[in-house]
Amino acid sequence: MEDSEQIQNGKQTENEVNEPVDGQETLYLGIDIGTYTIAVCTSEGTKIVENCAVAYEGEEFPKDPENVKVLFGKAALEQTDLPVKEPVREMIQGNSSDPGPLRYILEQSFKSAGIKLDSGESYAIIGVPAGADTAYKQAVLEMAEGLFTGAMVADESFCVAYGNGLLENSLIVDMGASKLDICHVNGNVPGDEDHMKISFAGDNIDQELINLIKEKHEDSKLTKQLARQWKEDHGYVGFSYVKCKVELPLEDSSRDVSITEELRFACESVIPDVVSGLTKMISDIQPDMRELVRNNIYVCGGCSKIKNIDNFIEGELKELGGGKVSLFEDPDFVVAEGARKLTERMPREFWAQMNV
Ligand SMILES: Nc1ncnc2c1ncn2[C@@H]1O[C@H](COP(=O)(O)OP(=O)(O)OP(=O)(O)O)[C@@H](O)[C@H]1O
Ligand SMILES: [Mg+2]
Repeated sequence: MEDSEQIQNGKQTENEVNEPVDGQETLYLGIDIGTYTIAVCTSEGTKIVENCAVAYEGEEFPKDPENVKVLFGKAALEQTDLPVKEPVREMIQGNSSDPGPLRYILEQSFKSAGIKLDSGESYAIIGVPAGADTAYKQAVLEMAEGLFTGAMVADESFCVAYGNGLLENSLIVDMGASKLDICHVNGNVPGDEDHMKISFAGDNIDQELINLIKEKHEDSKLTKQLARQWKEDHGYVGFSYVKCKVELPLEDSSRDVSITEELRFACESVIPDVVSGLTKMISDIQPDMRELVRNNIYVCGGCSKIKNIDNFIEGELKELGGGKVSLFEDPDFVVAEGARKLTERMPREFWAQMNV
């Protein structure tokens, strides 16, 4: 499973894509599965982003999902009739190793996007968080079994660095829903000592926003879903010219309120962890390389879409030695695009060994 090391040793160049076998079309996929979002990029240029959620009746995932009511993605999150499950979260927490729900989400997403896996060979690299445990990696590979001709897992931060030419002395900050990862990438696949996981991220911002609003409006009936939506629509740090007015649900009615300040405080609540994490990671790097690394910080993940987050982190770092913080143009697909590039450049004989 030490996948990406092997990829690197393959030493293929940007232009060297594997040749089709026997004239058959070969599809290469990069897949980013997160607790909140799933993103896919294919060698044919198809891109999918969907919520990693599924809704169905009962505890066990139905054996015949085609014949009963099962919703997936955004549709699952937006309804209230069926219980919602987040399969990646359950797999990461070790609460479930059933590959069914996640596979269902992937299959249905492929179907909606017109991705056909049965017309030729298909190879996929699936991103997993730095330091993910073996049981989780195995559960992911089990999910992929039979779906693709070959599949393997690779470190998400490494995928980001590989896909964006950042393999030398960069710090990748991935701000997701359940956690934020900071990873020092320097040539090789990062080891345990090169990354740091912080369990404060998008979900905690949502909870913080709920708490702050509740403090001011005791009678509010705010759901996590709505708080998350407000954060995604208006979230910012630092200064904003725009006032954020929302319709706050109450028991039997609603009230127009401003949440401009609460939103700022909630979004900024994640910043101290990012800054102290970065400072710690930089201090662990050999002294003559620190300057280079601190000017090579890249933030990805859904929370990188919080407005002004790059400038704000940069501002906080000023008193701690400075740094240059950059964002990506297409944050939803940064991991999946990197994984797709890795998939395309993987030597064919390596897939033969890795087939699941
Ligand atoms: N426009 C936006 N502004 C602010 N936050 C956003 C925006 N879009 C998404 N998010 C937040 O980003 C988080 C999801 O990020 P991402 O999709 O990278 O997570 P994930 O990979 O599924 O989670 P994890 O890596 O923790 O498993 C959620 O908290 C979501 O609300
Ligand atoms: Mg993620």
